[in-house]
Amino acid sequence: MEAQQVFRYLLLFIAIGLGLVLQAKADCPLSRAMIEGTNRIFANRDRRGNYALKRVQRVQTGEVLHMICQPNDIVQTTCQRNTNFTRPLPLRCNNPMAATATIVTDTSCRATMYSIGYTINNRRLELYRACYDRANVKAIFTTHTVYGKTFFPARPCVAFSRDGALSEADARTFTVRSIYDAFRRIFGNTQRYIPNNRNVVINRGHLTPSADFLFGDQMCATFKYVNVVPQFKSINDRNWETIERWVRNRIRLGGSLRIKTGAVGNLILPTRQRPPVRHRVILGTGTKNPVPEWMFKVVRTSRNRPLAVFLTYNNIYAPRRPTAPRFCTSVPCPMALVNTAVAGFTYCCNATTFSL
Ligand SMILES: *[C@@H]1O[C@H](CO)[C@@H](O)[C@H](O)[C@H]1NC(C)=O
Ligand SMILES: *[C@@H]1O[C@H](CO)[C@@H](O)[C@H](O)[C@H]1NC(C)=O
Repeated sequence: MEAQQVFRYLLLFIAIGLGLVLQAKADCPLSRAMIEGTNRIFANRDRRGNYALKRVQRVQTGEVLHMICQPNDIVQTTCQRNTNFTRPLPLRCNNPMAATATIVTDTSCRATMYSIGYTINNRRLELYRACYDRANVKAIFTTHTVYGKTFFPARPCVAFSRDGALSEADARTFTVRSIYDAFRRIFGNTQRYIPNNRNVVINRGHLTPSADFLFGDQMCATFKYVNVVPQFKSINDRNWETIERWVRNRIRLGGSLRIKTGAVGNLILPTRQRPPVRHRVILGTGTKNPVPEWMFKVVRTSRNRPLAVFLTYNNIYAPRRPTAPRFCTSVPCPMALVNTAVAGFTYCCNATTFSL
């Protein structure tokens, strides 16, 4: 390239860069204080004028945010050119609407599909979907879209809701005490898998993670039984957490990824007898609340192109790494994972051929 041409390109790049900076400056980014200080549901209007849940921090100049408390209490604020909103944020609400789970028709789910979100003025604003087997008290998979964010707001919620999908008694089969009793029932009073009824060994592992959402109400909407499976805590905290973080870090500025997360199989463990007897690990009565053998996460681009598939073995007692199941053709993982049972043995699968 001639020097003159190089110079011309350089000028062009500077001009584009300046333009981007100016454009970014004209926005009203949502700060941590604004997001953590609010308990209203944030929506804007899509191109057709319908409400859509606000999922990203960026608010463009002229964009109108609808801050919903109740259907008859919606306050609007507009992002101005001076980067301030016409009505300052945050804005509280005394009686915020909770996210509901409503049954929808969806052929991708062979059980009951729930849409988790809000109904405002007859319009469904969806956060994610959960395919749930009510007869067996078992979450099968969830789907959601994850957008980027620059910080992680404090999680304001801990209580799980049942949403009419399971009984109170069935929900209690997730408690530490009940899990201890279940293991003694299945493997006898001398079992060593669960040492006592106080320490958490198996917890309620989210399928759609709360950290994939921006606002407090959205994060709390993931605390639902239709969105959790019994998962070993150490696996949840280690390799599974690494996978969830990898997904969030893969999102390019302004982009999004489509995620399907699910559980498959039923964990089988041996008794201490000689020869050992193998039993399915089921936390409730009959076939209710089985502990899954595997958890998987399928990551696709916003255009639905497969990007990665993770498959984690939900068994901290495995004496060695299991072989990959038929539905997973093993490929190298895009990040380092810990190759132990306690961290959760993990396979990455060919995303093109993965069939679940
Ligand atoms: C934006 O609002 C803040 C706080 O109300 C105020 O201090 C500041 O001067 C405003 N900025 C502009 C450009 O109006
Ligand atoms: C995944 O499977 C497809 C189809 O069989 C194949 O073309 C591709 O090379 C595989 N990718 C990897 C990373 O093995």
